[in-house]
Amino acid sequence: MQGCAYIDGAFVAPEDAKISIFDWGFLHSDATYDVAHVWQGRFFRLDDHLDRFERSLKALRLDPGVTREEMRSVMHECVARAGLRDAYVEVLCTRGMPTPGSRDPRSCTNRFMAFAIPFVWIADPDKQRRGVNLIVSDAQRIPAQSVDPRIKNYHWLDFVSGLFKAYDRGGETVVLPDAQGHVTEGPGFNVFAVFSRPGAAPLVVTPDAGVLEGVSRRTAIELARAAGYETQERPLAADELRIADEVFLTSTGGGVIAIAQVDGQPVGGRAPGAFGPVTTQLQHGYWALHADPRYSEAVRPLPGDRA
Ligand SMILES: Cc1ncc(COP(=O)(O)O)c(C=O)c1O
Repeated sequence: MQGCAYIDGAFVAPEDAKISIFDWGFLHSDATYDVAHVWQGRFFRLDDHLDRFERSLKALRLDPGVTREEMRSVMHECVARAGLRDAYVEVLCTRGMPTPGSRDPRSCTNRFMAFAIPFVWIADPDKQRRGVNLIVSDAQRIPAQSVDPRIKNYHWLDFVSGLFKAYDRGGETVVLPDAQGHVTEGPGFNVFAVFSRPGAAPLVVTPDAGVLEGVSRRTAIELARAAGYETQERPLAADELRIADEVFLTSTGGGVIAIAQVDGQPVGGRAPGAFGPVTTQLQHGYWALHADPRYSEAVRPLPGDRA
């Protein structure tokens, strides 16, 4: 497997990065993580990912034992050592193991790890060309009052069972509603709906609650506002998604990706591969920001490689 991992203070091959089955990160999903990406040799919005990771660590009372700058250096070095130009770069912190015989999380030594692997697309390039077939699940997202979705977490049983049910219905991915029938998010992405308005700029809507505050979501909101579109973060009913003129998802794993069908019906009545103008504009805007030094930083060369 191509890539590089960091565990127990050392850089290792991905296949050698292993944790104990007694780590609560594995036994209880007691962990948090963040995923940034590198595109054409540059990290995209790395500080926003580190900010979110630090908020998640604090909320879960996890101490990675490294500073923010050490985390940044480890991420850079994983990518440089792996020799990747386009990479998926994850940092994570697990609770670790309690002292033998104890169930007290305060006795655990938390563990910081990281890895860089080749870029992972949330929808492969073929699906991106024709648009993704999205199913609105009957199963609800874990309530935000129980597991705060703003803390990036591995509580994915609802997503995974939702995915299997979506496949059974001929879909390719899934979005989960909350108890009120509002759309939340999907496995690894946020959701947007666009409504055309005669005589006015299109309206762009994304759920305001029950979701991870995605870095790509924020980028899409900023781009939409800069383009002069009214953009609302508010509850979005599943029925609104079904009648929207455009639907797209946002994720570090591919940016802005068009949804071609919701529950088997073509979005906006369009043919496969024909996307709405707002989705197309935001998609181009998203990738254009990757070369902009206000949003991206070059992967640092390894010390020996510096000129
Ligand atoms: C549940 C969930 N929602 C949304 C997102 C999108 O967030 P971002 O744009 O920061 O990748 C992710 C990313 O992995 C996620 O896991």
